[in-house]
Amino acid sequence: MQSKSDENKIDVSTRIRYCDHIPIHSTDYTEESMFFEPSNGMRPSPLQHNPLNALVCPRPIGWISSIGVGGAVNLAPFSYFNAVSADPPCVMFAPNAASSEGEKDTYRNVVEIPEFVVNLVSVQLAQKMNQTSTSFGYDINEFEACGLTPISSKLIRPPRVEESKAALECTVYDVVHLPIGTDGRKSHVVVGEVVGIHIDDELIVAGRIDERRLNSIARLGYFNYATLGAILEIPRP
Ligand SMILES: Cc1cc2nc3c(=O)[nH]c(=O)nc-3n(C[C@H](O)[C@H](O)[C@H](O)COP(=O)(O)O)c2cc1C
Repeated sequence: MQSKSDENKIDVSTRIRYCDHIPIHSTDYTEESMFFEPSNGMRPSPLQHNPLNALVCPRPIGWISSIGVGGAVNLAPFSYFNAVSADPPCVMFAPNAASSEGEKDTYRNVVEIPEFVVNLVSVQLAQKMNQTSTSFGYDINEFEACGLTPISSKLIRPPRVEESKAALECTVYDVVHLPIGTDGRKSHVVVGEVVGIHIDDELIVAGRIDERRLNSIARLGYFNYATLGAILEIPRP
């Protein structure tokens, strides 16, 4: 897929040459805190797993529905997901191939039909959301396999999850291809422009979204999730 971001790509090699005279750092590290370079492996002792998911968390979950040209509907959760701009409203999610050969079905679909829905995941939907992460075959419809109700979107082709209290209809704005992973896996960042927003009436209280009513679940590291804890209101200075 042609990438719009190619036009604005930063030439990192030139930048590094330009900065050569600036020392990287001059601090003498005396503390015993852990430091490692991912290019040498993501599990240096005593870490048993890649720590990134447990360090960059909690992450919201985008439950992405998509459809391919042959009509194959897909639904899968992505926690490498976030809103990246409020106006214009844009979101991103990152499908990371499960092996060096294949691509995620969701990625295949959004390349074929550049549209997707972000269904928001309330705590009550956590188990169903998790079920849809099963690696079903391309032709298996996760709505049917996991007992969820597809409902038509207003502006785009993929259906949305009726059980979700909010959903964002998106068109693909751009796809950024990340460097190939150490084990040969391909990863991409799909950026979407939000073209339609569904909000269950019960979420709106005094003209605002009540985050507690949406009650979104968030992803931590390993098999851990977080639910909404204390909410702090901190006005801007
Ligand atoms: C909570 C959760 C978050 C996930 N986040 C991602 C993610 O950000 N990127 C990714 O490639 N896979 C992620 N996965 C795994 C995919 O959901 C899983 O591989 C799914 O089968 C992909 O479906 P597809 O091949 O039908 O697109 C996540 C799974 C769970 C349970």
